[in-house]
Amino acid sequence: DAAPRTQGPATRLVIVANRLPVRWSDEGEEGGRWIPSPGGLVSAVGPAIAQRPGDAAWIGWTGAATEEEPFEVDGLHLHPVAMSDDEKVLFYDGMSNGTLWPLYHDKVVPSEFHRHWFDGYKRVNRRYAEAAAAAAGPEATVWVHDYQLQLVPGMLRELRPDLRIGFFLHIPFPPPEVFQALPWREQLAQGMLGADLNGFQTPEAAANFRRLTMRLGLAEAHGDESVVAGDRVVRACAYPIGIDVARYEGAAHDRETTERARDLRARLGAPHTVLLGVDRLDYTKGIDVRLRALKELLDEGSLNPATVTMVQIAQPSRDDVEAYITLREEVERLVGQINGDHSRVGFPILHYIHQDVEFEELMAMYRAADVMLVTPFRDGMNLVAKEYVAARYDLTGSLVLSEFAGAATELADALLVNPYDVDGLKAAIVRAVSMPPAEARERMERMRAAVEANDASEWADRFLRDLAADRERVTT
Ligand code: F6P
Repeated sequence: DAAPRTQGPATRLVIVANRLPVRWSDEGEEGGRWIPSPGGLVSAVGPAIAQRPGDAAWIGWTGAATEEEPFEVDGLHLHPVAMSDDEKVLFYDGMSNGTLWPLYHDKVVPSEFHRHWFDGYKRVNRRYAEAAAAAAGPEATVWVHDYQLQLVPGMLRELRPDLRIGFFLHIPFPPPEVFQALPWREQLAQGMLGADLNGFQTPEAAANFRRLTMRLGLAEAHGDESVVAGDRVVRACAYPIGIDVARYEGAAHDRETTERARDLRARLGAPHTVLLGVDRLDYTKGIDVRLRALKELLDEGSLNPATVTMVQIAQPSRDDVEAYITLREEVERLVGQINGDHSRVGFPILHYIHQDVEFEELMAMYRAADVMLVTPFRDGMNLVAKEYVAARYDLTGSLVLSEFAGAATELADALLVNPYDVDGLKAAIVRAVSMPPAEARERMERMRAAVEANDASEWADRFLRDLAADRERVTT
């Protein structure tokens, strides 16, 4: 429930992220309602912050162009940042998702460089920095998130030198050799150096950042996990993000979830095996190659359409960006081909859902699926893989996981695949479908231990504790 709120003068912890944890949906009763924002950032950071005692504020975009008043949802103080339609094109569609997103994800599609996009990015980053400066109490902690806001830590340090500033990147950070192509490489790296602590999903990403700052001549090496920039020590190391384990495990055990899962399998035609994919419709997620693998397996008869069904959730995402429009066309062409060739009337082989899915329905899907396919070409972490594991309390089910997802480090007991290798993917799917229960059990047990060992709120505690620790002084 949303309630209006006026800004408190002494907020001790301010979260700054592109999106607020909720966004406005025009659908539903009485002309609209707040629904959870998409993506792993919100699903991990939201609960981690909500569980913390004390006064926390969250600064972000509601998805609307108009100015809105601060309000409260589930005890979190939310400060909306407005973005005009033009600014959305330059900052969000353009620099964030047309330049940085593809560059940081192995250039799966080409990254475009446009000076007016960067100008819009600077302008919107400044707005977030100013909003954070206004919301934070004296010597408060500000935790800035993700690639859309890389300039914010530097801007904020200039506005409010008294603050403790942390930055966490939820997506991969590329090697300097790739990053250096950016015409604004110094500004972006300087922006992040404004933070006291930079967190990354993997040690490789953190090392890439440290190496970059040194190569650009902005910082010098300092121990294993820090650099020195000017007179400040800036830490840059890995904090692999987790999920809210209790929430997922609790919901998985729910009787209603069990009934929904049973009902779901019945509606799918009571197949022997249910395969599942859950992604934002994003070209980094490997949905197209995954569907090609499914198609070939069905075409060759390695999978029997009478006993296997697949559900692919493809949550709408960034649908004003050209590369996403093209991907949608390709995925939907493949869905049509696969269903045309292998479905029977009333029993589609592939259920393709290009819609947001509510939490309860998602949990039922995780419970109903025998094989989960998470095969991104590159992914900072991928929390869907962890959510599936958390839902499998009965130690059944197999996970096929891309070796290029950050989650592969912790979930080494999944069937790891190269997501570009159609034959390898096919072999892994066949192996997952026919895995002996004892092997599935052993793998799931180990994966569950890994997921349970890294809960989202512990992740947030760890980051914030390290951010609060006394900074080393540099003497010259
Ligand atoms: O994790 C990467 C990320 O871009 C998050 O910042 C974001 O919350 C999520 O993916 C969804 O993307 P978007 O906000 O562009 O819909």
